[in-house]
This record gives sequence, structure tokens and C-alpha cells, in this order.
Amino acid sequence: MAIRRIYETPDPVLRQISKPVATFDDELKALVADMLETMYEAPGIGLAAVQVGVPVRLLVIDLQEPEEEGGEPVRDPRVFINPQILWHSDAEVPYTEGCLSVPEQYAEVMRPDKIRARWQDVDGKSHEQEIDGLLAVCLQHEMDHLNGVLFIDHLSRLKRDMVLKKLAKWRKEQSLKAA
Ligand code: NI
Repeated sequence: MAIRRIYETPDPVLRQISKPVATFDDELKALVADMLETMYEAPGIGLAAVQVGVPVRLLVIDLQEPEEEGGEPVRDPRVFINPQILWHSDAEVPYTEGCLSVPEQYAEVMRPDKIRARWQDVDGKSHEQEIDGLLAVCLQHEMDHLNGVLFIDHLSRLKRDMVLKKLAKWRKEQSLKAA
């Protein structure tokens, strides 16, 4: 396993349309293992393959929700390959999203609060499930990555420019710290 480099906006790598996964082999399993390790190390709760520079329709999520309130986070890695949204609710909910490719920036995005999704696991087996709550938000955010879309694309131009300005400022501070 290895930690991979996470590409950040405005890198054009992130704007690619990811291709379907056709082969469920050891190479795919190794990529999934690397992605999970990279996500845990970042740390983040979701990561799409394109964010580590591999434009295939694969994403990993781990909400690391504690078993009880205030308890220790419990690892619960989930892998979604070739995911599709079969249905979504008309009702949308706001959630303050962030992204490892837009580091340290957060903004509220509206998304359907309930979806029915179909995907494959690392062995190619199909799954279908109705999903809501944070997992639904996270899955939709990660699926956007497969189509070259970032959460900031859902914001008004004014809001997006503000986020990008703050990101530039944050990067400048980081480079000063490193100097
Ligand atoms: Ni993201």
C-alpha cells in the first residue's frame, strides 16, 4: 500500500470524465487499498480515483461514525465502482461540504437528501440500495468527481470566487510557513 498524491484545483486532471471500470483484478484492489490509505492519512471521508490521478469510475468513502455519540470513530470503508443514481428525491438538503482537492475550504451545497444507487464492489458484484443522510451527500459529491465536477461548481459565481480567493490566501500562508 502507498499514499498517493492528491491533485488539487485548478489541476486539469480533476476535470477529466472518468472511464468505467471493466476489469476487477488485483491491480484494482491495490488501487482501492492505496486510495483508502491516502484518504485516512489526509484525513478525509471520501476520495474519488481521479483525485489521485486515475480517471476511472471508482470512489471510496468512510464516514468513520462512532458507535455511540462522543465515542471513538470506527472504520467502515466502503467502495463504490461504476456507481449510478437510479432515483433521487425532489427534496434537497443543505450540507457544508469540503474536498481534499479544495483543501481547507467549506461551503454549503444543496443536494437531494435521498437517492437510490447501484454500484459494483471490488469483485464486480452489483449492489443496489436506498441511501440518505451524510452517506447520500458524500456519494453524490464523490460521483461528481467522476464527471469532472467539484463542489465549488455548485456555488454561485460570487461564492465560488470567494472560496477560491480564500484558498489562494491559505496556500500563501502554507508556503510562508514552509519557508
Ligand atoms: Ni471532493
